[in-house]
Amino acid sequence: MNNQASKLKDYVKNNNMEINNKHKFHKDNSRIIAVSSGKGGVGKSTITVNLALALRELDQDIFIIDSDIGMANIDVLLGLNSKYDLNHVLEGICTLKQAVETGPYGLNVLSGISGLDDVLNVSNDNIKHLLTGVSEIEKEYDVILLDTGAGASQSVINFTTAADEILLVLTPEPTSIMDSYSLIKLLSSSNYQGKLHLVVNRVNSNQEADKIINRFINTAREYLNLDIELLGKIPDDHIIQESIKKQQPVFKLHPDSQVNDKFLEIAGNLVGIEPELPSRGIKSFFYKLVGQITPGR
Ligand SMILES: Nc1ncnc2c1ncn2[C@@H]1O[C@H](COP(=O)(O)OP(=O)(O)OP(=O)(O)O)[C@@H](O)[C@H]1O
Ligand SMILES: [Mg+2]
Repeated sequence: MNNQASKLKDYVKNNNMEINNKHKFHKDNSRIIAVSSGKGGVGKSTITVNLALALRELDQDIFIIDSDIGMANIDVLLGLNSKYDLNHVLEGICTLKQAVETGPYGLNVLSGISGLDDVLNVSNDNIKHLLTGVSEIEKEYDVILLDTGAGASQSVINFTTAADEILLVLTPEPTSIMDSYSLIKLLSSSNYQGKLHLVVNRVNSNQEADKIINRFINTAREYLNLDIELLGKIPDDHIIQESIKKQQPVFKLHPDSQVNDKFLEIAGNLVGIEPELPSRGIKSFFYKLVGQITPGR
């Protein structure tokens, strides 16, 4: 076992956590986690990739759906050159499985859904193409991470609320906090029933961040009746920019950095949390996304 993996496994063990993987609790269905934010540019794509890599260290099989058209998208971060995307699947040009690219470190990626609105305005034929392929991949992954676009457009909300869990990313800036609050308000009014996780990124002062986090979590509980669970804080650190520039994950470039330890800790916390509701799986996710009636469990 390498150093990363043993560090993380120790963390999970020391915190009396269980590693939930498909061989244990989620025999059939994958956990589907949308990585979302109120404001753009707060680090969703960076966190998606580095968290995915840390989860790999816990033997989790990971599938990333990149619905982001931002600058540092998943393809760029991983140095991938994908042939297909979800639009090809909807058109019936390839199956979902064929569209999944296996990137470095065993990460599976469905890339570049350019324009979520297109996905939501699909014909019955498109839906058929998509859903026939879904069962084929259902059993293969422990965790499916959706890197979503920023903000609270209807399409982002649809994508986000179709997931079983949401990992909300915010930074300690007032604008990010305000926009995150608007987003969770929308989630609350859309009657979102899933789990809400929080990662605070670009932290310079732990003390300041803790105050902000407490206030945010308490306000959400008090006014929106939403329970938010903090997974961790990531420092503001130039090695993140270096990692993007070099298209190398943080754990490769700086395995002993604090940033890397934080990603491992967040991964450990995530797998240690048993979702209250059983995951409904990817089929249910896509059904929900395209506005169909959710199939029975
Ligand atoms: N912890 C950090 N420390 C320093 N810089 C960071 C950190 N996290 C992210 N960044 C920087 O912020 C920029 C935006 O990050 P990223 O592209 O991951 O955000 P995003 O939320 O996915 O953006 P978008 O909303 O456009 O999709 C990156 O170029 C990266 O350089
Ligand atoms: Mg992004």
